[in-house]
Amino acid sequence: MADTSSPPVTRRTFLGWWMASLLTALTVAGIAPILPFLWPAPPKGQKKGPVTVGLTKPIDQLADGEAVKFDAPTSPNTAFIMADGGGDNAAGDLAFGGFVTKDKGALHVFAINCSHLGCPIGLNTTDKTFDCPCHGSRFHLDGTVLHGPAAYPLSHLTWKQGTDPNTIVVDGLTLGF
Ligand code: FES
Repeated sequence: MADTSSPPVTRRTFLGWWMASLLTALTVAGIAPILPFLWPAPPKGQKKGPVTVGLTKPIDQLADGEAVKFDAPTSPNTAFIMADGGGDNAAGDLAFGGFVTKDKGALHVFAINCSHLGCPIGLNTTDKTFDCPCHGSRFHLDGTVLHGPAAYPLSHLTWKQGTDPNTIVVDGLTLGF
């Protein structure tokens, strides 16, 4: 009759297992402290979701060539999430303000950050452009570049009208602090 019992564990096999276990434990212990830096946990209370913003002028009363500025609510602290971007801006970046504008009949909602290096743009009511005070970039009201150094258009925000024309609802983030 054949012997079906397992072969005895030799000293060499035991030492091999022991070394493998030790190396695994050391690797895990060495990598674990680095993981929070590679994939940081979101701050406590941080949550993505729609942010309702009050406008100084109802959206259905915006005249062509007009724009109104809005800020991210601060109670609780929130930010808007850029839907796209180029230069200093990118999809997923945060913005703390924006503009809603009507240009040639179309409504646009942009993040306030200049695509050059991120300074907040301002509305030039005379020329009907968005101007950046930092290095002089200018943008058409449809967000495209009129004058550099910015090489990319303004970033859009994803939005919809709120329950009344005085509000819009923008994709954003409650910051949790
Ligand atoms: S940051 Fe706007 S032009 Fe440089």
